[in-house]
Amino acid sequence: MDEQGPAGMLGDHGRGPDVAAATTPERRRKAADDAPPFRGSAGDADEWRRAALVSSLPTATPDTPLMAELHQDARRRIELRGRVFPRPASTRIITVANQKGGVGKTTTTVNLAAALAQSGLTVLVIDTDPQGNASTALGVDHHAGTPSVYEVLVDSAPMQGAVQECPDVPGLFCVPATIDLSGAEIELVSLVARETRLRVALDHYLAWRAEHGHARIDYVLVDCPPSLGLLTVNAFVVGREVLIPIQCEYYALEGLSQLLKTIDLIQAHLNPTLHVSTILLTMYDARTRLAQQVAAEVRTHFPDRTLRTSVPRSVRISEAPSYGQTVMTYDPGSSGALAYLEAARELAERAATVQARGSARTGSGAAGPNDQRQSGEEER
Ligand SMILES: Nc1ncnc2c1ncn2[C@@H]1O[C@H](COP(=O)(O)OP(=O)(O)OP(=O)(O)O)[C@@H](O)[C@H]1O
Ligand SMILES: [Mg+2]
Repeated sequence: MDEQGPAGMLGDHGRGPDVAAATTPERRRKAADDAPPFRGSAGDADEWRRAALVSSLPTATPDTPLMAELHQDARRRIELRGRVFPRPASTRIITVANQKGGVGKTTTTVNLAAALAQSGLTVLVIDTDPQGNASTALGVDHHAGTPSVYEVLVDSAPMQGAVQECPDVPGLFCVPATIDLSGAEIELVSLVARETRLRVALDHYLAWRAEHGHARIDYVLVDCPPSLGLLTVNAFVVGREVLIPIQCEYYALEGLSQLLKTIDLIQAHLNPTLHVSTILLTMYDARTRLAQQVAAEVRTHFPDRTLRTSVPRSVRISEAPSYGQTVMTYDPGSSGALAYLEAARELAERAATVQARGSARTGSGAAGPNDQRQSGEEER
């Protein structure tokens, strides 16, 4: 946040402009300490406190990258820790897909899910990848024979029988994938309504929760395998939105047009509400020109859909799954965890903004996040 940010945000509460106007970090910190008590609502006071702390951070310039990184982490820690994210008007169902392997689909799914749950929301992850990586990272049981997405898809078992709560994050649930799922692509071919089975199961589960007085699921995140087979088709039919993680590496955009064509086909024939709502840049290394070029190219093609936050390459992110954890619990203060927390906030607040705009336009308050229409972007 720049120097004007907190001052503007603080309005005429009296302390902000003095704090922001102080010229050195020490003076700014002192100005924040000496300021008279805040007179406003508890929410405003919290915003004020966070803004004052951010403005007390020493300024960083782009020619000091390490300093800029430290500044960014400190700002994120102050702005995001303990913040409650807005609940969407209705359950948002987001399919995390990219048929390219190893681009960060699973890492993005589990860390966004944990970040949303830690910020007060109820979240369900559906693991549709036979590798079961999302189930591993969430620390849920997924040995062969565990009730899983396989039984839900192939045997039409009720989803509530397969849902497990993540041991480290209250409010985060998972339908795991076991090795059994590796046969499902073939078994599904001969089944009735093979493309819509996951959607039907999820609809029943959400209704079951409501009937039994369980908290509404705010976000469903579906982790996809790196292919465009029937498992991914089921994930596209259950979703309303698609989130595409793009790795900031050479070949990043290769295969993207194939993915967008597949999404168009699904939209035309199976799921008219499906749209690409979000693109997240992953494994971003600000020191390489290649990463900067890939990021710039993605932002040029998809200006409104690409989150401002990109996820840095981080050892802590890659270590976390081997402890059966997301980085959000493994090392919540690390750059990677803070980046995912900020990305989750953007995801949640963009929906809130779209809803607010929709309600103002229609006067009904009925517009949901799935009604988003992106403007000023290339058509898929
Ligand atoms: N930001 C990051 N920094 C460092 N390592 C990362 C980051 N994001 C992901 N990784 C690592 O990169 C590898 C691939 O990530 P991930 O499994 O999330 O990709 P994926 O798209 O789900 O892969 P697949 O296509 O096989 O399902 C993993 O080892 C993961 O730990
Ligand atoms: Mg994966």
